Order: sequence, then structure tokens, then C-alpha cells
Amino acid sequence: MKKKILITTAIDYTNDVIHVGHAYEKILADCIARYERLSLGKEAVYYTTGTDEHGTTNQKAAEERGLSPMDHVTDISQENRKQIDALNISYDRFIRTTDADHKKFSAEFFEKSLKNGDIYKDKYAGFYCEGCEAHKTLTELNEYGQCFVHPTRKIQRLDEENYFFKWSEYEDFLKEKISSDELRVRPQGKKAEMLAFLEHGLRDITVTRPKYKVSWGITAPNDEEQVIYVWFDALINYLTEGSQKGFWDEDTKIVHFVGKDIARWHTLLWPAMLESAGYRLPDEVYVHGFINLEGQKISKSLGNVIRPTDLVAQFGVDSVRYFLLKYGPITEDSVFSLKQIKEVYNGELANGLGNTISRVAALAQKSGFDFPVGDENVDWQGALFEPLKEYRVDKVLQSIWILLADLDKHINKNEPWAIKTEEKLREVLTHEVSELRKVAKYIKPFIPDTAQKIEQQFGKVKITAGEMLFPRLD
Ligand code: MSP
Repeated sequence: MKKKILITTAIDYTNDVIHVGHAYEKILADCIARYERLSLGKEAVYYTTGTDEHGTTNQKAAEERGLSPMDHVTDISQENRKQIDALNISYDRFIRTTDADHKKFSAEFFEKSLKNGDIYKDKYAGFYCEGCEAHKTLTELNEYGQCFVHPTRKIQRLDEENYFFKWSEYEDFLKEKISSDELRVRPQGKKAEMLAFLEHGLRDITVTRPKYKVSWGITAPNDEEQVIYVWFDALINYLTEGSQKGFWDEDTKIVHFVGKDIARWHTLLWPAMLESAGYRLPDEVYVHGFINLEGQKISKSLGNVIRPTDLVAQFGVDSVRYFLLKYGPITEDSVFSLKQIKEVYNGELANGLGNTISRVAALAQKSGFDFPVGDENVDWQGALFEPLKEYRVDKVLQSIWILLADLDKHINKNEPWAIKTEEKLREVLTHEVSELRKVAKYIKPFIPDTAQKIEQQFGKVKITAGEMLFPRLD
């Protein structure tokens, strides 16, 4: 097992403020980062997230607002950070691709690949989708010539001089790394999908855009007239921070969390770029599904965007985290509605967790007993957390909620309120308090604020009834 771990999420575009779909990934990665800090130690974990600020989409969004690109992306980046902070995301660095260190790293990386003979100049004539920030072939467009992912955007026809990366030369390399799991692509279905894509063959990809078309980017180190292509620039963010902090070495497990729409960039382009520039590859790319709101894609044009801060204001941060970790699109797309969050809140948080806590606290207080704080150490490598090897945060929550249900049964069966002998009552309550103390630890990676509140209440010898943690919502 490696001593350290670098956990990253995709960095979000700054054309608009993020919604709950983008935020899902940050919560998932945050849960794993928090778990690893408990399991490996604080110093052994580094978690990065941030914003992807160059390229046409960001440039155009700035123009629409009548702002300079820098003012625009700074504004949105700050807003995104507020959204993420509202979800209690414990990132170690919020990186912006306009940060000075990243700009320097990107240019140096480009230069390394150039020196290794993998970048050459040529002409590109073809299509480009600004929504994906990607070049498209005819087969990647629908019958109306529009992008499948962004059918409302006008597809661009490009005819320009660019620098190209020799992606096609990395086909066998990628096949070998992915099929052998040296680069673990998960879930398994995604691994199969990426290998199938490789079977069609890779074509060299342009890694610059001419400045007269896209001025908002990092100038190519070998050509003043070109900027580095936004995906080439953005992917390097992981290395910028990882390598500066000593988290891009052989002792580190490197895990990228990404959504299904950008799996290819991370599993096929990024490893080829790293190999070209002479860096080690990541260990894993974990690909999650999409959140759909009441069955529809979340999008500005459909007017159904929900911001994390709106949800937090309505339900509280831990309820949002709990809901998304338990019912989010960990492997498959998931449907999401406010009604469903409310049901889960009332059923599993107000009732399942909150009610059990207030029952035990009230009984413990009434008994007047001391409950010496024992050695409720958690085995973070134990069976309960086994599903986290495959990032199945939902399964761990299920198991913890089974423990809570068992505890509830224990209370109902033993009826502590009716127990006559002190010895028996002490035995029953000691068990229940001890179970809740364990639960408070288990839930730390998932709902840290709640864990802390329970620990404050139960972490001392005299236990007193407290406020309802999750008051029922009508
Ligand atoms: N900027 C690129 C990523 C560069 S990473 C080097 C990008 N940005 S994005 O803002 O469009 O998306 C950021 C992340 O949010 C991606 O992983 C994407 O899959 C994810 N999601 C966007 N909408 C989502 C949902 N509705 N549901 C779940 N995840 C979603 O792509």
C-alpha cells in the first residue's frame, strides 16, 4: 500500500457558477479525502479542486458580461469557491489555471513534450464544439451537424494552423496500461468503454489555438502567436500542485475523480501527455455518472439550475452531503428531486439518526450514570470500509444505517425506561452509548459537522440531552 494519496476533482469551467451536479464530484472526493486522512494520517493526503479558466467558453462569457476575461473568471471562480465551501469541502488547494505557478508549469510541460518530438505544426480543418472545448469529427455530430452534448450551441468550422500532439503514437501504450490495470479505470464498464474507444484508433490532436481566434490562454512557449489548447492546459493542473507538494512521486497513489463526459481526456489524453513529458501516470481514474433533475439534464437553458448554496440553505450542509453520497450518481446517472431529498431527510436523518440520538441522550441523562469514555477506536481498514476501495460511499452509509436500525431495535426490545434494576439499566445504556459513540466516528468522512456535534454530546462522562440534530421538515 502506498504511503500517500493525491485526490483530485475536475476543475470547473468559469463560464457560469457551478450547480449541484458539479458539486457532487467534490463531495464524493471530499468524503474519500476525509476518510484517507483518518486512515493514513493528515499529512499523507492532498486534495485538490479548482477552476478551469482559459479557452473560448470562458472568453465568450466574459464578453457577454462586458468584462475583461480576468475580471470575469475571478468573479466566477470566487463564487464557485463559495459554493464548494458551503458544502464543507476540505480541499488543500483550490487551483486556478490563471495562477502564476500553473501557467509556468503548463508552458514547461508543453516544452518538454515539444523537445521529446511529440508536438509538431500542421493545419487543422474541421469542426469544434465550444461547449466541449473539443474538436469533433462528423461521426461525433448528430444528423443536424450539432454536438450530441451541446445541441443548442452552434458548431464552429475551423481552418487554422496549430500545433499537434502525436496522440496516435500512444495507442498501444494506453491499451497496455489500461487493460493491465496499471492505470485503473473504474467502474469496470468505463474501463471497457475506454478500451473499445481505443480500438477505433486515436488521431493526433491539436494542442494550441491561434491567438487571433482565442486570445485567452497561456502563450505557447515556442510561438507567440499561439495559446495552449484549454484541455492540454487544464489537465496539467493536477501535476502543478501535486508535484510541488511532493504528491507526484512513486510513494503516492494518485486518484482522479471525473464525470463520465470527460473520462476520455483523463484516461486517454492525460496519461499520453504525462508519458510524453516524462512523468509518472496516475493510479486511478474514477468515473461517476450524472445527476439529472427530475429526469432532465441540469442546464441554464432549461432553467432548472440548482446551486449547492440553495440546497444548503434549505436542508443544511450535512443533509445535502448525506443525500448525494447515498443516492448520487456514484456509478450510474441518478435522478434527483427536492421531494426526494426531503423524504430522505425525514426518514433517514430526522428519524434514523437524529431520533436515535435524542432517545439515547435522554435516557442516559435521566439515568444520572457516568459513561466513562472508552477506547472506541475505529479500524478504518476494517470490513465496514471495504467498499471504499471501489469508492462505494453509498454502501458504507447503508451499513452504518443498519447499525442505527439495530440500535433502535435494541432500545425498543430492552425498554430502558421500564428497567427496574440499576445493574441491568447500566448494561443496556452502556451498550447503546458505546454504539452511538462508534457511529459518531464512522460518519466523520461523510457528515463531519454532525459527527462533531454527536461527539460533543456523547464524548463526555455525563451525557445530556441536546438540540434535535435534524428537526423534521413538513
Ligand atoms: N473544465 C472541464 C474539466 C477539466 S479537468 C482537467 C470541465 N468542466 S465542467 O465544469 O464542465 O465540469 C466539471 C465536472 O463536473 C466534470 O467532471 C463533469 O462531469 C461534472 N458534472 C457536470 N455536470 C454534472 C452533473 N449534472 N452531474 C454530475 N456531474 C456533473 O469539464
